[in-house]
Amino acid sequence: MELWSRRKFFLTSLAGSAIAGATKLFGRTLSDSNGATATARAFPGSPAQGKRPLIISSANGLHALGAGMDILKKGGDTLDAVVAAVTIVEDDPNDDSVGYGGLPNEEGEVELDASVMHGPTHRAGSVASVRRIKNVSRLAKTVMEKTNHVMIVGDGARRFAVAEGFEEMNLLTEHSRKIWLAWKAKSSFNWRPGIDSPEWKEHISAIFDGDEKQIAYAERVIAHPPTGTIPCMAVDSNGDISATTTTSGLSWKIPGRVGDSPIIGAGCCVDNEVGAAGSTGKGEENIKISGGHTIIEMMRQGKSPTDACLEAMGRIAHNYKNDKKKLGTFHIYFYAINKDGMHGAASLWRNGYEPSKQASYAVHDGTESRLVGCNSFFDAVGGDQ
Ligand code: GLY
Repeated sequence: MELWSRRKFFLTSLAGSAIAGATKLFGRTLSDSNGATATARAFPGSPAQGKRPLIISSANGLHALGAGMDILKKGGDTLDAVVAAVTIVEDDPNDDSVGYGGLPNEEGEVELDASVMHGPTHRAGSVASVRRIKNVSRLAKTVMEKTNHVMIVGDGARRFAVAEGFEEMNLLTEHSRKIWLAWKAKSSFNWRPGIDSPEWKEHISAIFDGDEKQIAYAERVIAHPPTGTIPCMAVDSNGDISATTTTSGLSWKIPGRVGDSPIIGAGCCVDNEVGAAGSTGKGEENIKISGGHTIIEMMRQGKSPTDACLEAMGRIAHNYKNDKKKLGTFHIYFYAINKDGMHGAASLWRNGYEPSKQASYAVHDGTESRLVGCNSFFDAVGGDQ
């Protein structure tokens, strides 16, 4: 695509947003060949210069990036680093977005998706709709290393995992089971009290032993089913790059639904000459624009990780003619690093998955793991997740 059309597209999206009443946020003033400009805002944490080694993830990986950075500092492989980091989140029963304890499908079964890409060897692996196996990022890596396939799904992936020595287990924790029960009660109004009925409060209170915090959380994820995910990407001191994305996918999904996380070129993309990209949020929207690949190609043509993520976001907004009402039914983020160790991210809305908090992502550039604010496409609170 010609540079002019990409830029024009970007500014067209901007104009559309302005018409829709949105203020968009950018790190600099942009102008097209006609001299139209977009106002800029500087974002601390979106560096003008890179730093290597570097590892980043969605905000839910904040506590896990240190494990990946330790591997990078010792000269370990970038794929080992990102898989080590997300494995901590997959193993965590208290994180219901990923791996063990993930929120299940509509039948109460946890189904996981994951992918990996190894930049230096140009290889990829992925798994989708995997049941009873906790560490699907490592399973995706095993597909990459032990087979000549790229993607294995469903029961075939589970059997492959067992053959490769992965432990089978029930992935549903008590916490996730109770929330699923509450969701079922809400949706099965013929045999349980529906969410709007007078008996609802009593019913949900019994499920959670009156714990108001848990009840409020359950009501939120029932009303706005999350697509919990952790993408993680790293570049080492030599400039080699890898990435992984792992998820329990859309809560209460139809069994077999697959999002963007295991789709190479959408939820995970690496080009060792350029950088890496990943995503969280409504995977269907990302798949439709091949977001990961789009971001890599934007960076190849010279865009910063942040601007590349914003351009990908512009394509999603464009698919809905920048209609904030329609776009407000979901949330999506993009994350990227480049070969120089620069990082960036874009969220569709200013708020994060927790509506009261600003969208952010986790960065570790060798000193400490910290949260950095995302550039948001719409300077408005929105999104359904
Ligand atoms: N982005 C994760 C999913 O849609 O499943």
